[in-house]
Amino acid sequence: MDAYLWRHLEDQFAKLAGQYGYDEIQTPTFEDTDLFCRTSGDTSDIVTKQMYTFEDKGARSMTLKPEGTAPVMRSVLEHSLLQQGSVLKLWYFTTIFRYERPQKGRYRQAHQLGCELLGSASPQADAEIIEIATRFYQGLGLKGVVASINCIGRQETRARYRDALLQHAAGYLAGLDQEARDRVQKNPLRLLDSKDPAAIEALAGAPSVLDYLEDSSRAHFDQLQSLLTDASIPYQIAPEIVRGLDYYTDTVFEVLSTDLGAQSALCGGGRYDGLVKDMGGPDTPSVGFALGIERCCLVMQSQGLIPEPQCPDAVVVCASPEAESAVRQLAARLRTAGLSAQHDLSGKSLKGQLKWADKVRARYAIIIGADELAAGNATLRTMASGEQSQVPLDGIEGRLRS
Ligand code: HAM
Repeated sequence: MDAYLWRHLEDQFAKLAGQYGYDEIQTPTFEDTDLFCRTSGDTSDIVTKQMYTFEDKGARSMTLKPEGTAPVMRSVLEHSLLQQGSVLKLWYFTTIFRYERPQKGRYRQAHQLGCELLGSASPQADAEIIEIATRFYQGLGLKGVVASINCIGRQETRARYRDALLQHAAGYLAGLDQEARDRVQKNPLRLLDSKDPAAIEALAGAPSVLDYLEDSSRAHFDQLQSLLTDASIPYQIAPEIVRGLDYYTDTVFEVLSTDLGAQSALCGGGRYDGLVKDMGGPDTPSVGFALGIERCCLVMQSQGLIPEPQCPDAVVVCASPEAESAVRQLAARLRTAGLSAQHDLSGKSLKGQLKWADKVRARYAIIIGADELAAGNATLRTMASGEQSQVPLDGIEGRLRS
C-alpha cells in the first residue's frame, strides 16, 4: 500500500477525532502478556491462538500488542490520566500483530486507527463513537456505510442467554472435541461469531440475545438507536455481532463491507464498562472502536476512491549553468513561503527538467536562464496548459499562491 495514502488516512482521522475533542495517545509495541490474557479474554482466538509471545532477557513473558484498547487503558491507569467525574477522549494509530492465516484484508502485522471514550455511561457516548467511525468513512467518500449494531447485555443477560444458546446448539456441541467444547462453555456467545460452516448451520434460527436483555440494557440500546437516527447515522440491528474480545458489555458494533470478501469488518468496537475496574482502576464506563487501515485502503481501491498523491507546486528549472545558484535560492524562498518546490539534482538538460516537471505533475515550471537572470525575471510555465509568460522574480511566491 502507498505510504502517502496511510498518511492521508491518519491526517483525516486525527482531524476528525480532534473536532470531537480527542487527544492522541501512543502506547508501546509490546506489553506484559498478562495484560492481554486478563483483558481480551482467555477464550478469545486472539489470546489462545494469535498472540506473538516471547520471553525477554529477564524471563518475563511479553506480547506484541494484538489490539490497542488494553494498552491504552494500562497507560491511562499508569499515568493517572483519569480525573474523577470527567470524560477522557483519546485516539491512536497503532500497529497490531496477530498470528492469523494471511489473506486479502487479513495480515499478521496490521494497522489500526481507533478512539476510546472513558468515563461516560451515557448512550450519547456510544452514539458519538459510532458517529466518528461513520463520518470517517463518509468523509473518504465510501459508499454504503452502515453500522451494524447489537447489544449483548451484561452478566444477567449472558447467564440467561447462555443456557438458551447452549441448548439450541447441543447437537453441534456433541460433535466437538473436549477442548472446543470447553471454550464454548466458557463463552457461548463465541458460537455466533464462528466461521465453521457446521456451527453456522447449527445456529440457524438460534434465539436472539436481544430477547434476553435486562431492562437497563434494553433502555440503553433503544436510546442509542434514537440518537443514531437523530444524527442521521445509517445503522442496522445485527444480533449476530458479538465481537472477538471478551471485554464488551451492552453495545457492540461493526461496519461491514461487501468489498472485502471474507474479511468483511472495516471496523469494530463497543462498550467495555468493566475493563478499567478489572484492571485495578476506578469504575469507568467506556466505549471505543478501531478500524483497519489496510481494509479501508482495499475498499477505497475497489470503489475508485484513492486520491492522487500531492503534487509539487513548482519545479524550478535551470536553463543555464550561471543560473544554478538563483534556482536553488528561489526553491528555498518558495519553501519558506509554504509552497512545495523542487529543483533538479542530477544534471538533467532543460528538456529533461521539463519532462520531469511534467512527470511529477508540478503545477508550474519556473525556468531561470541567463536572459531571465539579467532581467530579474523567470519564465513561468503553467504545466497543465503549457502557457508561459515572463514574470518578475520578486513576489513570484504570491503569484503561485493565488
Ligand atoms: P477488532 O475488531 O479486533 O477490534 O479490530 C478492529 C479492526 O481492525 C477490524 O475491524 C479490522 O478492520 C482490523 N483488523 C483486525 N485484525 C486485522 C488483521 N489481522 N489484518 C487486517 N486488519 C485487521 C479491536 O481491535 C478492538 N480493540 C476495537 C475496540 C476499541 N473496541 C473498543 N475500543
